Amino acid sequence: MKPLAENAVIGIIGGGQLGRMSALAAAALGYRAHIFAPKGDAPATDIANAATRADYTDTEALKTFAQAVDSIICEFENVPVEAMDFLAQHRPVCPGSAALQCAQHRLNEKDKARALGIPTPRYVAVNDATSLAEALAEFGGGILKTCRLGYDGKGQLRLDAGSDAATAFASLQSDDLILEEFINFTAEVSFLVARAHDGTLATWAPSLNQHRGGILHSTEAPAPEAIITPKLKKIGSEAAGALAENLDLRGVLAVEMFVASDGQLLFNEIAPRPHNSFHWTIEGAETSQFSQLIRIAAGLPLGSTEAIGHWRMTNILGEDLARLNEALSETGTYIHRYGKAEARTGRKMAHLNQRLKN
Ligand SMILES: Nc1ncnc2c1ncn2[C@@H]1O[C@H](COP(=O)(O)OP(=O)(O)OP(=O)(O)O)[C@@H](O)[C@H]1O
Ligand SMILES: [Mg+2]
Repeated sequence: MKPLAENAVIGIIGGGQLGRMSALAAAALGYRAHIFAPKGDAPATDIANAATRADYTDTEALKTFAQAVDSIICEFENVPVEAMDFLAQHRPVCPGSAALQCAQHRLNEKDKARALGIPTPRYVAVNDATSLAEALAEFGGGILKTCRLGYDGKGQLRLDAGSDAATAFASLQSDDLILEEFINFTAEVSFLVARAHDGTLATWAPSLNQHRGGILHSTEAPAPEAIITPKLKKIGSEAAGALAENLDLRGVLAVEMFVASDGQLLFNEIAPRPHNSFHWTIEGAETSQFSQLIRIAAGLPLGSTEAIGHWRMTNILGEDLARLNEALSETGTYIHRYGKAEARTGRKMAHLNQRLKN
């Protein structure tokens, strides 16, 4: 792909914080951002050159948008695949429809990982209370998840072997479910790989993640070697690269993994977009995940993914906003607010990147 000239327009599908940070990265490289997002709070639009506020199914709006931009990225993985396929007829798109389609369904993701020889927890499709009862007996309990549209632990239930299958099945209000074996993990980690249009790959150092109540709370990066040994780092990075290649991904792909008690890395899920657990790369890597995605969309060479020091990224939810006042007077703490209109409990409002002393 020929590099885009200065002032070219990067179209961003989705208007949340990932789009906002992508638009900031685009500006640093001399590009304009045009956001496409449905109506509602869309903090990315505050700092973009243009915004189209329409549904992802509005073909007319998509067409006008495609004509107004030079290259398209996606900050949201649940955009209808048809919309991305339509846009791809007009402009280069990231991440591509194979990656989106895979990431939109938990069974697809895990089947894909297995097909590539990447170990996963045991899992089974659940479509009714009977199949759930059988699966619970087989796995001795587990985590029941909706296959589509879950985030921040929403659409999930932890069940034990004796849980009532009919009640559990009814409560998720979907017949497209997966039961996963419960993994007593020693750590949660994520890997991030970038893949350019010509197939070049680059991986960042892995992140060590702490969740609270199903929501990512904080990330330490690069993940300490005592937890992610060089061998595990190699296995995880190669798995991320294999997924990116197999899905013909353009852009960035995050892979969430568990470290099981026997030391094995187990695949959890993918996200074919910038990922919360790599927000540390804004100050903590030679090239941030956002900057890399814009480079790829613009046909520029990949930047170095080398880490610069050690970092802790902490999410600031609606209930944590007071923490930002303290952070203002801390040297080595970088504040990234998302400009959301309303602070709600559990809603991601900002994050802090703190440089750790080592
Ligand atoms: N099979 C499992 N065994 C043990 N814990 C699990 C399992 N699946 C999920 N969890 C826990 O629940 C968290 C959220 O699960 P998962 O990543 O599948 O859902 P999500 O809603 O897509 O989350 P997010 O969008 O925040 O990544 C995981 O990070 C992990 O802490
Ligand atoms: Mg997850």
